[in-house]
Amino acid sequence: MKPSMAAAITVSRGGPLTGTLAVPGDKSITHRALMLAALARGESHIRGALDAGDTRATAAALVALGAKVDWPASGTIQVQGCGGRWRSPAGTLDLGNSGTGMRLLAGALAGRGISATLDGDASLRRRPMERITAPLRAMGATLQTRNGCPPITVAAADRLHGIAYRLPVASAQVKSALLLAGLAADGPTRIVDPFHTRDHTERMLPRFGAALRGRGDALIVRPGALECTDITVPADASSAAFLAAAALLVPGSRILLPGVGANPTRTGFFDLLGRMGASLEWRNLRDVSGEPVADLHVEARPLTGVRVEAREVPRTIDELPALMVLAAGAAGETVIEGADELRHKESDRIEAMRAGLETLGTELRVSANRIRIPGGGLGRGGRVEAACDHRVAMALALAGLATPEPVTVAGAEWIDASFPDFAERMRAAGVTLEAA
Ligand code: S3P
Repeated sequence: MKPSMAAAITVSRGGPLTGTLAVPGDKSITHRALMLAALARGESHIRGALDAGDTRATAAALVALGAKVDWPASGTIQVQGCGGRWRSPAGTLDLGNSGTGMRLLAGALAGRGISATLDGDASLRRRPMERITAPLRAMGATLQTRNGCPPITVAAADRLHGIAYRLPVASAQVKSALLLAGLAADGPTRIVDPFHTRDHTERMLPRFGAALRGRGDALIVRPGALECTDITVPADASSAAFLAAAALLVPGSRILLPGVGANPTRTGFFDLLGRMGASLEWRNLRDVSGEPVADLHVEARPLTGVRVEAREVPRTIDELPALMVLAAGAAGETVIEGADELRHKESDRIEAMRAGLETLGTELRVSANRIRIPGGGLGRGGRVEAACDHRVAMALALAGLATPEPVTVAGAEWIDASFPDFAERMRAAGVTLEAA
């Protein structure tokens, strides 16, 4: 993977976006495929993976744990797994910017008889880890953190106990960490997810031979070994969201995004766009390695504000920065309820988007559990900050398509975490995006 984003980028208003745009592989699914393949016995193949900073960091950590990962510059990844027997790594595992990498790996390696320290960059070091360490401790793991944040040190434990656990926060990372830990427990692990967070781990585990029952809010995983398999990763719905949002900001735009993940636990943003008046169509729905996938056709239409209820947030969580930009430009107010989890992402996304949009002439009103976006805004360009956050960087860059003057995003290199080809794809669609 070669980092391709400049440290600052400028996006200017221009003509409509058109064409068929390739979207990179799904980040969540790539992390999971790499980890399960590294735990499994035999050689797995992963096609269509996301080649980006976050997923490369996970692959490097798995190599340090003893897996062989052959990841060519383009094409299929080959993973030779360790049949459940990872080794204690020689040094600290550096998960970079990736909360998914850190939380899922901590669960996967607890109870495997090895010790390891997981660390990351300054942004990851600010993110809460008690949400996984508390239930993992209840399973019998010994973990240490620095005031609840990384680094996390996992002490060697040979066996964990299965527990029954109801998620107190809407987090697929917590659910997945416990499911992966449950593979090495001495009995079944039961998890209740009342929030219906993304279910990629549940869909993928049985493909690697795991005994997992249930779907939706109640899951039971039994301990057991994994067997190698081949996984094809769909295009990332969250990255597709930025291209769709770009098209919706420029009248006359019309784009096609092929092979996008259409998993209903991830498509809340697109449903909201429909309610805002966008023209969206999922075509040719099919199954790819147990995940629904479709070609997404997007046509610009004038948008109106929308009300996002708290129960809709988990299916929309990573796309809320893009939604805020669309809402700022839409006619009428948008209200987002119960999105406090946004404060615990790669940045405090509520604060980062509030600051960025304020520079661009839209004032977000943030109260205890509600964000109000007045609409009718995006009245001026300016220089905004990515706040060490790939999704904030991309969301604010989109604003430049609608503001009268260009928008410059400082810290655009963070986009490499999930979408290294962002600039290239935007330019391919006709956008004027330059290094600043
Ligand atoms: C992810 C889960 C979500 C999401 C993140 C990826 C995953 O985080 O925001 O980008 O792959 O499980 P939380 O589990 O913290 O909500």
